[in-house]
Amino acid sequence: MLNLVVFASGNGSTLQAIIDAINNNELSASINLVVSNNKDAFALERAKNNNIDTYIISNKEFQSQDEELYEVLSNYKIDLIVLAGYLKMIGPKLLNKYTIINTHPSLLPKYGGKGMYGMKVHKAVVEAGEKISGVTLHYVNSEYDKGSIIAQTKVDVLPTDTAEDVSAKVQAVEKIQLVNELKKFSLKLNKI
Ligand code: GAR
Repeated sequence: MLNLVVFASGNGSTLQAIIDAINNNELSASINLVVSNNKDAFALERAKNNNIDTYIISNKEFQSQDEELYEVLSNYKIDLIVLAGYLKMIGPKLLNKYTIINTHPSLLPKYGGKGMYGMKVHKAVVEAGEKISGVTLHYVNSEYDKGSIIAQTKVDVLPTDTAEDVSAKVQAVEKIQLVNELKKFSLKLNKI
């Protein structure tokens, strides 16, 4: 069983996909905590609805956030941290202690970096007239969207597609890719 902590800043549909995969016995994992920097994130409701502990990290200096989260997370069993629509940078204490992965809604290295998240990515893709987009799962390091790539899935972008259309296509494959890759992490762990 893979012990997860999920970080999420918004709606939490990616978190929900992990919860559903666990509840359907598709994924052998447990989400032990959901962390958010946004007290109004719907992700927190989703966690509470599933009896998952939640923690809200207040908006303070980067280093203090890192230290606070380091303390909080030390109370949980964690094999892997998943950033699922989390919009803050991860600090060095967490990076040194945990394996952390992030799902990003573009084919990195394209459309990544600071300020490139959610609909902003899809708008940029449509404005550039891209014919394909997709989703990237990657390890997290000290730079936004720069860690080594674990998996990518492509989607076609039609000339008539709006940013919303691209978002819907990307989010659909994003959930499948994430759950598949988590299954691989879970298998790897069970073999050790
Ligand atoms: C997801 O598509 C995720 O890839 C993206 O935000 C969305 C969160 O949706 N993350 C980023 O853009 C991070 N750079 P959700 O809140 O419904 O899970």
